[in-house]
Amino acid sequence: MHNDNRFISLPHLMEVENSQGRAVISLFGAQVLSFVPKHDARERLWVSPTAVFDGQIPIRGGIPICWPWFGKAPIEEKGPNHGYVRNQLWTLKHCDYHEDNTQLIFEPANASDTQLGYKANLQLIINIGRALNIELTTTNLSDTTCTYNAALHSYFNVSNIENVQLEGVVGEYFDQLDNHCVKTTPLIYRFTQEVDRIHLCPEQPIVINDEFVTRVKSIGNDSIVIWNPWITKSKQLKDMPDNGYKHMVCVETSITQGLQLAPEQSHKLVQVIE
Ligand code: BG6
Repeated sequence: MHNDNRFISLPHLMEVENSQGRAVISLFGAQVLSFVPKHDARERLWVSPTAVFDGQIPIRGGIPICWPWFGKAPIEEKGPNHGYVRNQLWTLKHCDYHEDNTQLIFEPANASDTQLGYKANLQLIINIGRALNIELTTTNLSDTTCTYNAALHSYFNVSNIENVQLEGVVGEYFDQLDNHCVKTTPLIYRFTQEVDRIHLCPEQPIVINDEFVTRVKSIGNDSIVIWNPWITKSKQLKDMPDNGYKHMVCVETSITQGLQLAPEQSHKLVQVIE
């Protein structure tokens, strides 16, 4: 069993352990909260010490699933930030245990919202082994083309954000803190202030250099979103301690430019964490 007591007695939790790794997953949002590969016994994910587990609001940390939009709802006021599947219960449809890899398949209680124009099937496949491999498949069930956005909004655990350097984030980005202005990614990517950037950076492996190294691979994305709220925003977020920003960085495998799916067509968005 998992020897991490942070999540003990919380509702809707699953723990998985095999010879290669351990993970904790909340059925609320099908959200992975912890991943520790055994070869180095180091926690890859960050969960806010003041995260709320009331089954109402999304859990601040781990890997929230943002879908079928990223950020504000397309019809303003008609849906929560980052979509409606990170704050509902998902069902475990299948579990396949092998000594070195465990596969879990989840589906949300309700992926369709016909009022908002989404009729889809959504499936999340999580593989826990030496790496954590998380795969979100969207299938358009309507008889017209649909457009969606999504993110595997991973919160990575870092020892101190001021020591973090990212590798592999290149090209231009939209600065969400400056009217979505297009800017050039710095050659040396470090953190000294709030960052909220949509990098048009498809399928680019990213390395988070901290005291240790965490590798993030992305498949099927059109963007990588990098987010750190820094001190002022941490203080404003009720489910984050004032200094919470110091120990996390979000590297989000995302679709932000609107991906079109023909009827019955499927698309996979994948993030691999090592
Ligand atoms: C990031 C966005 O993905 O998520 C930020 O780029 C946003 O703008 C952050 O503040 C957190 O969003 P939320 O809804 O989980 O507080």
